[in-house]
Amino acid sequence: MPEVTEEQVLEALRRVQDPDLHKDIVTLGFVKDLKICGGAVAFTLELTTPACPVKEQLQEQARSAVASVPGVETVNLKMTAQVRSSLGPTEVLGGDVRNVIAVTSGKGGVGKSTCAVNLAAALAQTGARVGLLDADVYGPNVPVMLGLQGKPERSGDKIAPKEAFGIKTMSIGYLAEDGTPILWRGPMLHRALEQFLRDVDWGTLDYLFVDMPPGTGDAQISLAQLVPMTGSVIVTMPQEVSLADVRRAIAMNQQVKVEVLGVIENMSGEIFGRGGGRKVAEAYGLPFLGEVPLEPSVRQCGDDGTPVVVSQPEAEVSAAFRDIAGRLAAAVATRQVRTLPTLQV
Ligand SMILES: Nc1ncnc2c1ncn2[C@@H]1O[C@H](COP(=O)(O)OP(=O)(O)OP(=O)(O)O)[C@@H](O)[C@H]1O
Ligand SMILES: [Mg+2]
Repeated sequence: MPEVTEEQVLEALRRVQDPDLHKDIVTLGFVKDLKICGGAVAFTLELTTPACPVKEQLQEQARSAVASVPGVETVNLKMTAQVRSSLGPTEVLGGDVRNVIAVTSGKGGVGKSTCAVNLAAALAQTGARVGLLDADVYGPNVPVMLGLQGKPERSGDKIAPKEAFGIKTMSIGYLAEDGTPILWRGPMLHRALEQFLRDVDWGTLDYLFVDMPPGTGDAQISLAQLVPMTGSVIVTMPQEVSLADVRRAIAMNQQVKVEVLGVIENMSGEIFGRGGGRKVAEAYGLPFLGEVPLEPSVRQCGDDGTPVVVSQPEAEVSAAFRDIAGRLAAAVATRQVRTLPTLQV
């Protein structure tokens, strides 16, 4: 029986490529804790996100690559994930927040809050640590959509985020008296966002989503000034008229130097049509993250305070949100591999 060497196992694993990152899993540093004992090989694959869309595929390929090494009798493969930070050291965030992702659009009412809530919930379902900051100080929707209310507790000298469905959240809606309109001027908005980032005890988060207010303006500028952003996603509706809005959203992101991670088409279907989101993404060379169908249960679940991906996980629309969440997580990981040096093993 030939003796199995570490070099042979790594050589075999070098044949497994991550299709998004276009590198092999050894070079990417995914292979950890390799142990060989006679014909028994054990190792861990540490992916860049627990929401990896090709997790099963990589697991299977790695397993069979190692199994094909002469002398290997058993393969014990453990899957984990470690989301890497794209932010670098930052003073403003209260906690170890690894990625900040804004959910934006060129105009109101296209489903930013709905997408933010469901993408956050979908990523939390994969085991990721997720936060959601409601930056819509004019009309905060996160409290209702997640069924949260009441003043947040204190946590030492910080504010404890309110949590639901594994998502840590903060919203002006928890602080304002019911129905009291607040008139926000630019500097006040800036200070409120700063407090939400700095004074909230976010803890360790893999992804902090920011649900942006409608329009392009003060909130985008403030957020980009306050915190190093991983990027933003643009939500649009399918019809042609919304293309101009997407163009506006892209221009805004460029102006504040925030990368657009991708475009989501929301409310696809018979009423508004389908395909405009993909078209506009292609026209601007942006990744298209997917279509969310127009589905009354989405609104119903939002009104009832439970995201549809939680209350109806088998629904088609929930699968769409999970796919988009996976593609977004992969886009974040891809961006990091592009911008950060990888270790050669
Ligand atoms: N895919 C969908 N199917 C059915 N209804 C949807 C869908 N997406 C969003 N909605 C509904 O459309 C309305 C607007 O959605 P939402 O509040 O998420 O948009 P928004 O872009 O955040 O709006 P605003 O700009 O006011 O913040 C809500 O009533 C929501 O429940
Ligand atoms: Mg909203």
